[in-house]
Amino acid sequence: MTEHKSIAVDGPSGAGKSTLAKLLAKELGFLYVDTGAIYRTVGLKAYREGVDPEDGAAVTALLPGLNIELKYGGDGLQHMYLDGEDVTDAIRQHEISRYTSCVSAVPAVRDFLLERQRELARTHDVIMDGRDIGTVVLPRADVKIFLTASPEDRARRRYEELCQRGQETDYDTVLRDVIQRDEHDTRRAAAPLRQAEDALLVDTTGNSLEKSLGVLLDTIKERLHA
Ligand code: DC
Repeated sequence: MTEHKSIAVDGPSGAGKSTLAKLLAKELGFLYVDTGAIYRTVGLKAYREGVDPEDGAAVTALLPGLNIELKYGGDGLQHMYLDGEDVTDAIRQHEISRYTSCVSAVPAVRDFLLERQRELARTHDVIMDGRDIGTVVLPRADVKIFLTASPEDRARRRYEELCQRGQETDYDTVLRDVIQRDEHDTRRAAAPLRQAEDALLVDTTGNSLEKSLGVLLDTIKERLHA
């Protein structure tokens, strides 16, 4: 069996994880796995079923009937399916972010998704982004990056992303939500957002995309060939 290479990218929301990981995956010929999208699909299910996302027992009760699929489209990008429907865009709604932050704190949800994430890394060279990839999902990843930026920079990126998607919001609301969600993701008991001891900290505050990409690519190549 060939050993596949894995790169873990963790960090708070809006640090640029998915944009950068997607570009890195293309450059390196790795599969990009957006684990936030998988959690978001569970958040969407709770939302659609009218389940209180803070009610751990009710969220857990959704799991046996949960029909989630992850597929790579002709565009090479990850698409999420819920009950057979492509929900890749639907999971990006602002309201779903809050739901997802809550359901992802439920230990049964994390257990339910853990093996699926690991299976992808066993069968492909992956660059996987999330909150607990370097600490829990792939503790033996070849390269671990912890990507961060100031809350203001991260909120600005999220705000621009939401505007591009045509969602009505304002910067202050996004900033407040970003800060609240980070607190929630960091304070939860189950697999909280945390920098792995052997992860490289990269702060992208004020950096252009090209600059961050260059820094990451050099680091990754150096570590993969070390
Ligand atoms: O990366 P994102 O913003 O799409 O993630 C949405 C939520 O999912 C976020 O609040 C934290 C949660 N999440 C998680 O708990 N563990 C992961 N590996 C990825 C995301």
